[in-house]
Amino acid sequence: MIYFSTKTQRALRATEKILVQLSVLSALVVILNSCNNSEQPTFTNRIAPIIYKNCTPCHRTGEAGGYSFVTYQEIARHADLIAAVTKDGYMPPWPADTAYSRFCDEFVLTQSELEALQVWAKTGAPLGDENTIPKPPDFFVDSTHEKPDLVLKMTESFFIKGDNSDKFMIAKFPYEIANDTFIRAIEFVPDNRKLLHHMNGHLVSYPEGKKKNVAEGQHLVEMDMDTDQVVIYKQLGLQNDDGTFPTLTPSVINYLPGVISTVYPEGIGGYRMSKKGAFLLKDLHYGPTPVNDSDQSIINIYFGNKPPKRPTNELILGTLGVSEVVPPLQIPPDEVKSFSTEITTTEKISLLTVNPHLHLLGKSFKSYAVKPNGDTIPLVRINKWDFRWQYFYTYKKPVIIPKGSRIRAEATFDNTTANPNNPFSPPRQVGERNTSMRTTDEMFQFIITFLPYRKGDENINLER
Ligand code: HEC
Repeated sequence: MIYFSTKTQRALRATEKILVQLSVLSALVVILNSCNNSEQPTFTNRIAPIIYKNCTPCHRTGEAGGYSFVTYQEIARHADLIAAVTKDGYMPPWPADTAYSRFCDEFVLTQSELEALQVWAKTGAPLGDENTIPKPPDFFVDSTHEKPDLVLKMTESFFIKGDNSDKFMIAKFPYEIANDTFIRAIEFVPDNRKLLHHMNGHLVSYPEGKKKNVAEGQHLVEMDMDTDQVVIYKQLGLQNDDGTFPTLTPSVINYLPGVISTVYPEGIGGYRMSKKGAFLLKDLHYGPTPVNDSDQSIINIYFGNKPPKRPTNELILGTLGVSEVVPPLQIPPDEVKSFSTEITTTEKISLLTVNPHLHLLGKSFKSYAVKPNGDTIPLVRINKWDFRWQYFYTYKKPVIIPKGSRIRAEATFDNTTANPNNPFSPPRQVGERNTSMRTTDEMFQFIITFLPYRKGDENINLER
């Protein structure tokens, strides 16, 4: 037991009084607050902005969500369903843990937004003041961004045979424009979002006078690992008229399930675009399907006003990348197993965007950097892997990683029957297989996009 002197006891009693007063005050604040919040949420005063920011980008004509959530009627009619899918966390889809790191354009509801949606549904989805209905944001069909300057469509629709096998194609999107220009951003819009799993796009630029007919050759060719690249490039008619090959700028655009293309502020990234050229979509991967289907995807181009000042760099850790997966990526049946991969930075970098990539056995993912002084920089954490949402996550401001830091990624795979996405029943040994990217084989990749550090990078605002 501890005895206090009378003086201390008096002081304590005084403190108690203050505490009681404080708690009365804070109780009052709570009541006041709840009065404030208990204002009936209506479409007009509360719900519309929540839906327009977190749902409508994917829930409108031409987008993946199925239901259109644009008008009050469309949204109110499904109020109960909206309340249900948000309550159980199914929507909006945002696998990255916001307690670990934050990104641009997150689809995330705050607790109070979530509650407002529940109350709104329970009270019959009221409209509220009809004179102040918020206007839906301007959306463009087939674009998540503003109106594109140039739209290229796959010249022929790809017939996907329903034979339950993966298809790997190369598609050529030739173009011809009036003048050389600059590209600020490129957006790939998949037509068949269900089957299209992956694409890695390159830019082919023809020097002045080197190519008469950019449309020459086939525009869709099966990717065959055994066939020489040059043979395929010739099939696609990519060569200059004199038989030499034009410049190819690699990885100008990537796609994975759910990906929304990245747009950086003018001056970061971007490309030169010659009058004549083509987009070459490699590793165009369609997952297996039992029924015939088709795809005719499009590419949106946004022109820039200035030459690209700071080209972005891309590095792939893990499968098919610069760093080894440890131990080698093999997951025995009925096992949950973890792997890691890491690199050490050779210069100070400004990290812009990260993309964790696993297939169907993925369970969780984490990446962080460890500075030479031992401090840890959290990069991204996905507690519950979801194959359908493999975003390229862009930081709100570049994350500065000093030279000599270790960038480390850790992934856990679940090859048991408890994993509802396990493609095999009973489970089979699954792992990396040569250069295979088949959905039923596994991959463990961490793709980072960065700039060599420049003073002031930490203050660049990457939000749109
Ligand atoms: C990034 C795109 C995206 C965003 C953002 C998004 N959804 Fe979805 N939503 C989808 C897709 C795609 C589907 C189709 C099912 C699937 O693939 O999971 C879907 C399905 C649904 C369904 C149908 C569920 C069912 O059982 O049929 C509802 C309801 C829904 N979303 C509501 C919402 C609400 C409410 C929000 C915002 C709070 C939201 N979604 C945000 C893409 C999105």
